[in-house]
Amino acid sequence: MTAQAAFAGLDLLATAVIALDADFTVCFVNTAAELLFSLSSKAARGQRLAKLFAEGAELEARLRTARAESAGFWEQAATLTPIGQEPVGVNVLASPVEADGVAALVEVRPIEKRLRVEREEQLASASQASRELIRNLAHEIKNPLGGLRGSAQLLERELADRPELREYTQVIIKEADRLQVLMDRLLTPSRLPRMGPVNIHEVCERVRSLVLAEFPEGIVIRRDYDTSLPDLTGDREQLIQVVLNVVRNAAQALAGAPAHLRPVRPEITLRTRVVRQATLHRRRYPLALELAVVDNGPGVPEAIAGRIFNPLVSGRDGGSGLGLTIAQTYVQHHHGVLECESQPGRTVFRVVLPIGANGSGGDKP
Ligand SMILES: Nc1ncnc2c1ncn2[C@@H]1O[C@H](COP(=O)(O)OP(=O)(O)OP(=O)(O)O)[C@@H](O)[C@H]1O
Ligand SMILES: [Mg+2]
Repeated sequence: MTAQAAFAGLDLLATAVIALDADFTVCFVNTAAELLFSLSSKAARGQRLAKLFAEGAELEARLRTARAESAGFWEQAATLTPIGQEPVGVNVLASPVEADGVAALVEVRPIEKRLRVEREEQLASASQASRELIRNLAHEIKNPLGGLRGSAQLLERELADRPELREYTQVIIKEADRLQVLMDRLLTPSRLPRMGPVNIHEVCERVRSLVLAEFPEGIVIRRDYDTSLPDLTGDREQLIQVVLNVVRNAAQALAGAPAHLRPVRPEITLRTRVVRQATLHRRRYPLALELAVVDNGPGVPEAIAGRIFNPLVSGRDGGSGLGLTIAQTYVQHHHGVLECESQPGRTVFRVVLPIGANGSGGDKP
């Protein structure tokens, strides 16, 4: 069977795939790759990568090493520039294979411009500044809250013979409590992580049962676990919070979707995978894990799509807009990345975390 016939099924995928033969010449380009890079499959076939992409030679060198080591690699926030065209921001997953004259598969996912987690160099300082501002503000608000609440309680006691006024003091007390919870959440991410061995599937199972209990009306949470994944070094509580915030958002999006956007079978999938040779925040890790939380809900609202990781940005009634900010902060404590791709019917939040000696236990706290 020719590579062409063998890989025809790849045309059905939304992910761009390029197959290379043992000499690293292109033997197949699927439709998604043709669209992504404005390439014609016919013209690309038989070409070296260096003829097609400005970064082709470098990619080829890495593929060569990958094949020699029989291990794929994953490159986050890379750039591929089709010759004569604009650069495309992508995540690249390359795996050596042995099938029908094909020696390597390169999967390319475009980084959605609107939704990508901003590259750290560009925005780290801005988000750091806004986080600090918010923390300071939260402190300022928190300080007088205790006094406010206490005074309202005293007042309530003094007014014991005027029960009709209790309604007012209760408003003050309840609102003070609500603000207190909000401020505590704003201030939480500062705790330094307490690192230990963490099994990601235990984390997923815990979150799964919490969310199922919270949303009893018919959300299915599927598991697609790679049980060969070793423990990672991390802060268990923080990682539970990360996964919980993301999965809860998915459940809320499913439960709150307007009728015409609600899927017949609301479903969330927790998928774990091993990632070899991951580059995270410009550091390369031999081993990492990917946890994808996929839902078939209505997708992130267009209006806030580029800002969902910013504090206080929410697209739902009663949301405080902190869940993803906190998740992002915790993931960064673990030197990992959290990113999102969303369209109606399919939203994916992907957490990639380094595993092992050079990973979370590395040089930065
Ligand atoms: N899976 C998803 N599908 C659709 N929209 C989502 C999804 N995940 C997040 N969002 C959108 O991103 C917004 C921000 O999420 P985030 O968790 O930061 O805040 P929140 O859920 O509004 O409030 P909080 O988590 O603090 O209670 C959400 O309000 C929602 O509009
Ligand atoms: Mg949330």
